[in-house]
Amino acid sequence: MAVGPKSAADLSMIDPFGRAVSYLRVSVTDRCDFRCVYCMSEDMAFLPKKDLLTLEELDRLCSVFINKGVKKLRITGGEPLVRRDIMTLFHSLSKKLGNGLEELTLTTNGSQLERYAHELAACGIKRINVSLDTLDAAKFKSITRWGDLDRVLAGIKAAQKAGLSIKINAVALKGVNDTEIEPLVRWAHEDGMDITFIEVMPMGDIEPDRFDQYWPLTEVKDHLSKSFTLSDIDYQTGGPARYVRARETGGRIGFITPLTHNFCESCNRVRLTCTGMLYMCLGQDDSADLRAALRASTDNHLVSQAIDNAILRKPKGHDFVIERTHSRPAVTRHMSVTGG
Ligand code: 5AD
Ligand code: SF4
Repeated sequence: MAVGPKSAADLSMIDPFGRAVSYLRVSVTDRCDFRCVYCMSEDMAFLPKKDLLTLEELDRLCSVFINKGVKKLRITGGEPLVRRDIMTLFHSLSKKLGNGLEELTLTTNGSQLERYAHELAACGIKRINVSLDTLDAAKFKSITRWGDLDRVLAGIKAAQKAGLSIKINAVALKGVNDTEIEPLVRWAHEDGMDITFIEVMPMGDIEPDRFDQYWPLTEVKDHLSKSFTLSDIDYQTGGPARYVRARETGGRIGFITPLTHNFCESCNRVRLTCTGMLYMCLGQDDSADLRAALRASTDNHLVSQAIDNAILRKPKGHDFVIERTHSRPAVTRHMSVTGG
């Protein structure tokens, strides 16, 4: 079959619902140095290394996506900074900034930031997301199992010193960090950081108590309204959060509400796993195997075609539901596989 080169007109990825895909999240590893209770089991089995895309393959795939209209790239995991030689990938991706790519960023648990913050900033990274649910060291340990709060706080300091803007991501957990929501906001804002709250999502083989910890962000917002005067603002980062400003601190608070609010209509993103599976929707199991296409030929044509076919299957929306009677997760894969 003779297939000519693509014209500029069909370069961009438009899904069947007219949404242009411009944001790619790439999970570079399913491994992590923490074992957060809502994300992994303590004896989590990880993928064999041979199944992973190499850093060169990840770079090649990202290039194809950038040529097809991706403007924002977020590196995630697992914990991206625990992957061996990961800075090689950041350095090669940084060369694409200004050449189609507008923003390179990452989501991290902060444990390795002391070591890497400076180099990340040198790669043209401007903003990072750091996951942190509590400022109480004992509670931090009970949520992350293996994490060390002081190390994360030192990482945040190092990132600030390197000139990175930081957004804190906190999962709202009823009965766990509900008394800390207000102090977390004050702490973040005093230090010039935005903070976003995330509803706990039913992912992987989670235990039933995840459902009891489910705290709708409408309630979190009501709770915050007792301490702060909140006003809706039109701030957009290209991600799914909706923002308000707290008058008392002047800072921004975001809410990511996959369960209570359907943010699918403006969805501009797809997710790539560390094995080369492309997920068109966080809340659905459909995926496309890009690794096979990537390895079948050194030419990028096949993989480009595989991406086009996948985008045509991007669903209109997800169907997460909280079912109290069945503790079956809505999606069977772990967050550490597709990235947060
Ligand atoms: N529900 C909500 N957020 C989760 N994360 C991991 N697992 C879940 C879950 N089940 C979050 C992390 C981090 C981001 C990458 O995803 O806390 O902020
Ligand atoms: Fe690691 Fe993030 Fe999962 Fe926690 S939520 S175990 S830090 S990947």
